[in-house]
Amino acid sequence: MKFSGILCGVAAVCSTVSAQYTASRYYEKTSGITYSSITLPNGVSYRISLPAASNISEAILQIVVPKAFGWCGLAWGGHMTNNPLSVHWATKAKSGQKAIVSSRMAFGYNAVPNPYIGATYTYLKGTTSNNTHWQVTSYCVGCTRWSTSDGDVDLTTQSETQFAYACSSVAPSTPTSNTSTFNVHEQNGIWTHDLSIARNVSFASFVSTNPYKGSKRDVEEREWFA
Ligand code: HEM
Repeated sequence: MKFSGILCGVAAVCSTVSAQYTASRYYEKTSGITYSSITLPNGVSYRISLPAASNISEAILQIVVPKAFGWCGLAWGGHMTNNPLSVHWATKAKSGQKAIVSSRMAFGYNAVPNPYIGATYTYLKGTTSNNTHWQVTSYCVGCTRWSTSDGDVDLTTQSETQFAYACSSVAPSTPTSNTSTFNVHEQNGIWTHDLSIARNVSFASFVSTNPYKGSKRDVEEREWFA
């Protein structure tokens, strides 16, 4: 699949990348979840799991990010504006939640993207950090279907789609809050993601058997915006 973008790396050496990258099936042993996964040249992995068929817009999104990055986001519509943005960062907290997702939508290029209440996220097991990486695993309702002034988009039946990403080495100003402001990215790019291999008849059990912190799915994006 085609990937292109400007890569600056954390070492701040920028280059234009245009190469073939392919999402592949990724089975995560600890959770039992099967994803369509891609690891970009900057070392960031984006993983999507989808229901085989569903009337609602639902997806599991996992992002695994080298610690040198302050934030990284996924644009579900393949560009910055008028589509759901799942922006992630490490909280830097010594205990408790180590990484979070922030639901945003941008309506222009000159401001921090707004909170987006059309998508809600429930954290799943696999939201953590270690010495080298931080990662967020979430169940999103509203990421695969949206309506904006650009029109209506529905990824639930598509076999592939264009995604975009953006990352920065600079952490948001208030890392423990998902309403924090953050600076413009140093890197962004696009690729075509295979959604057919993301679909699985066991999707509902992927969600129900992987509660965050072993309790009910209790930490929701809604609460962060309350
Ligand atoms: C403070 C926050 C942000 C600012 C100020 C910002 C600003 C910008 C600017 C000025 C451009 C260049 C536009 C052009 O080439 O004409 C751009 C492009 C882009 N941004 Fe952002 N951005 C922000 C956050 C984000 C986030 C959170 C994402 C995704 C999760 C994102 C994804 C992209 C992408 C994919 C592009 C490439 C062009 C496009 O898709 O239209 N940006 N951004």
